[in-house]
Amino acid sequence: MKLPSLKIRGLEAKYPVIQAGMGCRIGMADLASAVVNCGGFGTIASVGIGDLERGKTHFVDECNTNFALELKKARTLCGGKKNLGVNVMVALSNYEDIVRTAVAAGADYIISGAGLPLQLPEYVGDADIALIPVISSGRAFEVVVKTWLRKYDRKPDAVIIEGPRCGGHLGFTMEMIEHPETCSLDLLLKEVREVIAKYQLDGLPVLAAGEVCCRADIEKFLKMGYDGVQIGTYFITTEESAIDPRSKQVFIDAKAEDIVIIKSPVGLPVRVLKTPLVQRVLSGQRERFSCPYRCLRSCNPAKSLFCIARALIATWSGDTENGLYMVGCNVDACRKIFPVREFFETLQGE
Ligand SMILES: Cc1cc2nc3c(=O)[nH]c(=O)nc-3n(C[C@H](O)[C@H](O)[C@H](O)COP(=O)(O)O)c2cc1C
Repeated sequence: MKLPSLKIRGLEAKYPVIQAGMGCRIGMADLASAVVNCGGFGTIASVGIGDLERGKTHFVDECNTNFALELKKARTLCGGKKNLGVNVMVALSNYEDIVRTAVAAGADYIISGAGLPLQLPEYVGDADIALIPVISSGRAFEVVVKTWLRKYDRKPDAVIIEGPRCGGHLGFTMEMIEHPETCSLDLLLKEVREVIAKYQLDGLPVLAAGEVCCRADIEKFLKMGYDGVQIGTYFITTEESAIDPRSKQVFIDAKAEDIVIIKSPVGLPVRVLKTPLVQRVLSGQRERFSCPYRCLRSCNPAKSLFCIARALIATWSGDTENGLYMVGCNVDACRKIFPVREFFETLQGE
């Protein structure tokens, strides 16, 4: 089958693929612009940006300045093309600031999850920017739609459904994650379609996230009734992903049985590789750290066993002893370092 384009608000990408926001410097300007140049939607993640030392005293300014610079760099790298957006987690303590920075810097869309983005339209105001909530149930989607319509007369421009086999934070209970058939992307699509019908959101693009790593996966979700997919894990080991090659090698060497789920300081379960840091966390050992940042609303540094920001920055810098390696169930598909272009070439033609 020839893959259809993906239209969101006034934007259109040749392929129905959004590159997932991946925080702490995986999805930066190089990755996002490469995806845009190849015909997808490229997303810069807003979390964990900026200098750690300066952030200790000027956290908000440091994040805003570097986030705006990253967007500018990405726009230059894709020759001013559209389809360049950002991912902003609701759980961030500087959520409003980062959203306003994304709007001022001219992002084309905002993807927002890890909590319900109920106030997103307020922070965006009249700006012509696509708003894309990330949800993991029809109920959560309905709460977002109802709130946006009632308070802001605003509809979502697309919705991303994160399934139980996704990488990163998961919007499910442990029991549901252990029984993924109870919350499969098939069932969740039905729930979301009911909300779309109830609120007359006809034509709203619905994207599937979780375990997509090849053309056959995309075709499977299109046949299921999705309009496109969001891909995270498979892009981690691209040449353009900004993490150190030593960390890319950790993903390449990993097998599905190395994956565990732990409780994250974000307050949600998170799927990760069982690397040395995670083994220490699982044995109940607390990492020694102090927190001058307060980057997450939900994190209580006195009770957290580790600092997720430091752990993810350790991943970025190739410190495999102290890094946190968030991952989806499809880690077996990450077998080499390859250019983004190589993936998109497989999407050409019938
Ligand atoms: C390393 C990593 C970092 C992530 N960081 C974020 C993030 O900063 N914000 C967010 O909303 N989701 C984040 N996610 C979730 C992705 O946006 C995406 O929905 C998910 O990875 C899709 O599943 P897949 O990894 O199986 O493709 C992350 C996922 C991974 C694997």
